[in-house]
Amino acid sequence: MFLTYVRSLPNNEEQGQYLALDLGGTNFRVLLVEFTSSKQKILDCERHEIPNDLRFGSGQSLFDFIAERVIQFAIRHQLVGVRIALGFTFSFPLHQHGLAEATLVRWTKSFNCSGVVGFDVVRLLKAALKRKMHKSIPYVDVVAIINDTTGTLISGALMDKNCVIGLIVGTGCNSCYVEKLENIEKWPFNYSEPRQVVINTEWGAFGENNVLDFIRTIWDRSLDYESVNAGKQIYEKMVSGMYLPELFRRVLLTLIERGVLFNGHVPLELLRPYSITTSSMSKIDMDTKLNSFRNTKTVLSELFVRCDYSDVDAKIVFMINNRITQRAAYLIATGIWALAKRIDQTDISVAYDGSLLCLHPYIKLWVEEKLNKFSSSTNKKIRLIPSHDGSGYGAAIVAALCYREKRPKIVKRNGKVYEVTSFLNK
Ligand code: BGC
Repeated sequence: MFLTYVRSLPNNEEQGQYLALDLGGTNFRVLLVEFTSSKQKILDCERHEIPNDLRFGSGQSLFDFIAERVIQFAIRHQLVGVRIALGFTFSFPLHQHGLAEATLVRWTKSFNCSGVVGFDVVRLLKAALKRKMHKSIPYVDVVAIINDTTGTLISGALMDKNCVIGLIVGTGCNSCYVEKLENIEKWPFNYSEPRQVVINTEWGAFGENNVLDFIRTIWDRSLDYESVNAGKQIYEKMVSGMYLPELFRRVLLTLIERGVLFNGHVPLELLRPYSITTSSMSKIDMDTKLNSFRNTKTVLSELFVRCDYSDVDAKIVFMINNRITQRAAYLIATGIWALAKRIDQTDISVAYDGSLLCLHPYIKLWVEEKLNKFSSSTNKKIRLIPSHDGSGYGAAIVAALCYREKRPKIVKRNGKVYEVTSFLNK
């Protein structure tokens, strides 16, 4: 669990234009966001793919690549000679020391750049921007760094005042929630209002101390053992989009080897790790008994050039697929319920985002069903609300919030006028 230093949630007071940078998957995005008193709007958004060698190369090359694109984007928007604040969504575990100070704890998902773990990511980005910024081109000021779950929560809070949990189920999986300051033993600052702070749970790492062993299967274990981060992100490996298809592939292989499927013949394509995608799993899950597993058969024909399957094979494949996605949904619901029980509030809205939750036909529904069961004997009401582009908007909102908090406020006491500046962090 990590402190985020985000304490204020937005109240539509934010105004002006801000840049947001969103890095967390195989793509990164640069956005220009505008806030006016009545609405927020993404004026432009540019997406860039991060080549494989950069995801496994040196941190400096990665940040140089990103900085170059940010500067080009700013120049294209004629942000020349101005100071523009940038909020950075960085979707990896961070140990934050302030709103714009954060060291990387570890890489997750498909990243493993050298020279970044243990270093301040904001500094690395600032240094790269400095290397790319020349005279008369914009001064991009990195004012805040957040996790994608925080962005999702913040963006959800704009729409729904009961929103106190942020959830991402995409390539990776994580959540954050609003905690009371009094519950934070090591809060390094004063206990002034707002007496709350967003906590990034990094629950993807849950299970690293073996507490999930009682439900882990041989496929969970072998996937973990052969992954780039063995022993880490155990819960994430059971629930997120990067790993579910790989679990599916491994179960299929075992059943073929045992002669249960495809007459014991292994389609060659199945031997390649991570070769199945979540969209195939979604398609299979859309089958019903009534359509004779038509989708499953289509997916099998699409995935494998040569594969002789029977009706029974298709049914088994459907069932395995369904068990994996449903288990993920139930585990996610369990995580949300653990947070909901902790939060002293009856109506709880969970802002969610992420490709798996948004695109899979049933996972969200299964999560909701399970949550209803969990809460049926309590007075809690939990609602899942879509948070549109939280990881983009969120960073810009926090950048704006940061400015809002830093803007001097005027107060009158005993007939005298004082200027009060309150900072989000220090
Ligand atoms: C990262 C989290 C992130 C999640 C969703 C996980 O692998 O550790 O920081 O929020 O993926 O992107």
